[in-house]
Amino acid sequence: MSLLDTPLTQQLGIEVPLICGAMYPCSNAELVAAVSAAGGIGVVQPLSMIYVYGQDLREGLRLIRQTTNKPIGMNVLIERSSKLYLERMHRYVDIGLEEGVRFFVTSLGNPRWVVDRVAPDGGMVYHDVTERKWADKGLAGGVHGLIAVNDRAGGHAGPRSAHALYDELADLGVPIVCAGGIGDETGFVAALRMGYAGAQLGTRFIATNECGAHDDYKQAIVRAKESDIVLTERVTGVPLSVIRTPYVERIGTKAGPIARWLLRGRRTKHWMRTIYALRSAWQLKRASLAGGAGEKTSKDYWQAGKSVAGIHAIEPAAEIVRRFAAAARSAQR
Ligand SMILES: Cc1cc2nc3c(=O)[nH]c(=O)nc-3n(C[C@H](O)[C@H](O)[C@H](O)COP(=O)(O)O)c2cc1C
Repeated sequence: MSLLDTPLTQQLGIEVPLICGAMYPCSNAELVAAVSAAGGIGVVQPLSMIYVYGQDLREGLRLIRQTTNKPIGMNVLIERSSKLYLERMHRYVDIGLEEGVRFFVTSLGNPRWVVDRVAPDGGMVYHDVTERKWADKGLAGGVHGLIAVNDRAGGHAGPRSAHALYDELADLGVPIVCAGGIGDETGFVAALRMGYAGAQLGTRFIATNECGAHDDYKQAIVRAKESDIVLTERVTGVPLSVIRTPYVERIGTKAGPIARWLLRGRRTKHWMRTIYALRSAWQLKRASLAGGAGEKTSKDYWQAGKSVAGIHAIEPAAEIVRRFAAAARSAQR
């Protein structure tokens, strides 16, 4: 059996077990479309589509459909508990279903309502997890698979290595996707050989022709070494993987003492997180689209994972999918 034939490709009806993960603020319609059209699956980040690229969600989904009819996914961040936010997420899921999305990637909360909403229509829900306890919660919520976010991931990395996390989750009986640290086809094949049903990549797909991020950001990913990736608490209040730029070095990576105290407090942590969420959304959007960050004056952050080690050029997204698929096809299990 080919390494490309996995529970993920079977469940989603795709050819290559390769997911272009949701990325605020780097997911744009063209990138999602290019990955899906090439046989992998692109995941729409609704907040990125609407607030970064200024598209109406339904129109953005239809734009993708002009390029490809193949499966696409949608990210549902369910952490924030305000009624308004949750109502908005429900609306996004409904629009996704109406526009033919059947793959949903949930993070940060109880995915039960998403499963209940999409499963009757044939939707599959995969839940982002960094440890066994979150996987157990996701499975109690009825999810069909897990995205195992490891310690080399871009965005919010987990505490475990890809190996350790696979071992911790392998007996759960659902497909497990490796997220983090994969920048080239060797890493992809290694993850499939380890037993993963597929891989979710973020950073690799930022350095593509289709990604809407600024060229300075893409070039910084191509230039960066693994040792240039640092975790900072200063953007969202919890560790976030970013490229160490002069700005990041200057202001440090630890949250200030007052912020830490407020983030710990039972009453204050919710509004502190909201303040962080609003501020980081604006900061990350500006950094990704405007360019020049870190090198000149900037107060900005470029998110990236340790997968930068395997990224040496800005390429068309389809070329990445093609190369990864070819390597997996010719590899022995
Ligand atoms: C710039 C950036 C933004 C991200 N934003 C999100 C997001 O909005 N939602 C989400 O579930 N994951 C997000 N992630 C995580 C990715 O979907 C993916 O799991 C991760 O990038 C994999 O690690 P890699 O970057 O080493 O490939 C983000 C990652 C990056 C690099």
